[in-house]
Amino acid sequence: MDKIRLGVLFGGRSGEHEISLRSARSVLGVLDPSRYTVTQIGITQEGAWLACTAETGRSVLEAMWAGKLDMLSPVGIFGDPTRPGLYAIQKTAAGEMLSLLAGLDVVFPVLHGTFGEDGTLQGLLEMADVAYVGAGVLGSSLGMDKGVFQAVMQAYGIPVVETMVVLRGEVQNDLNAVLAQAEQMAPYPLFTKPANLGSSVGVTKCCGRADLVEGLMDAARYDRRVLIQRGVNAREIEVSVLGNDQPQASVPGEVIPSRNFYSYEAKYVDDNSTLIIPAPIPAETAEQARSLAVQAYKAIDCAGMARVDFLLDKDNGSLYLNEVNTLPGFTQISMYPKLWEASGLPYPALVDRLVALALERKAERDQTLRKYEAGG
Ligand SMILES: Nc1ncnc2c1ncn2[C@@H]1O[C@H](COP(=O)(O)OP(=O)(O)O)[C@@H](O)[C@H]1O
Ligand SMILES: [Mg+2]
Repeated sequence: MDKIRLGVLFGGRSGEHEISLRSARSVLGVLDPSRYTVTQIGITQEGAWLACTAETGRSVLEAMWAGKLDMLSPVGIFGDPTRPGLYAIQKTAAGEMLSLLAGLDVVFPVLHGTFGEDGTLQGLLEMADVAYVGAGVLGSSLGMDKGVFQAVMQAYGIPVVETMVVLRGEVQNDLNAVLAQAEQMAPYPLFTKPANLGSSVGVTKCCGRADLVEGLMDAARYDRRVLIQRGVNAREIEVSVLGNDQPQASVPGEVIPSRNFYSYEAKYVDDNSTLIIPAPIPAETAEQARSLAVQAYKAIDCAGMARVDFLLDKDNGSLYLNEVNTLPGFTQISMYPKLWEASGLPYPALVDRLVALALERKAERDQTLRKYEAGG
């Protein structure tokens, strides 16, 4: 069997750049060299694509960690299927020169957040006609946009928390009306968050009007559209989903945040939020979470994988679907792979499965006609 030529992308133009490097270290650590020829591609915080042009076993990831970017060379792929693979860009006296550096059968974007998880990169990979791990353009962008996501969930009858979406312009010019509308929607606490972000950046728990003003201002720094949500006295339950047309759900897990909600600090600074697997919840609730997770996954047309997060109301046991993460944290100790491990699929086998699903999805997509044929 020929080896699979796998491009692993990490870093990225995102607030979750560093989290991506951590996930990539785990992924690269388990790729079986007898199965894969791996090309590491690092994307800088500014969006430059970099790789190693020499064969001498240099790790792009380690160079990026060390900030030694001068050891790396600019590379790129074309959104042109007739020029497949990864091209190196070399400076010559005559200008920049392109040469084919590596073929790519599959790309694994180990990227979180903007320009990696939101459909933009997926658009480029679709244009290039290369197989890639994870959801396509639509699933990725619906998973990223919390505003439209809520509306889609409602259309499918999937329970979500009461939410309103306001524009930055409304926050700036019509604040009193926004405050009044929010207070009419639900009592405090309310949560404010930017529509398109992750890692709890710009998320505020607002316990009164002054907090709400501050929360709105903060969220509006990060996005043009801001969500205001009823605050749930919540336990945080997460389910891993894996598959293409017949997705499977893992056992649910629970996060116990180290702070009063699962903030950026609780996620990445304290490093002592606890994961409990399986979540100690009634069997009925677990089944409901698994079923809703698969429904949401299908509703937004996910593929490959997603981690589906819920808020479980401590006061009345209601379960609300909070969000879908199409490229969830992927270190060996992250919730997504841990849940599969607990469901009988260890980390290295999970990575192999994701690559296989990417190839399967590409083969399925290749059945689609790209030009008109009469009859049929
Ligand atoms: N409506 C809500 N009620 C209670 N807690 C919430 C609510 N919305 C968000 N949170 C808290 O904020 C955290 C981050 O919000 P989330 O919507 O998951 O955004 P992100 O994409 O940044 O993870 C959640 O994990 C939870 O702790
Ligand atoms: Mg979240």
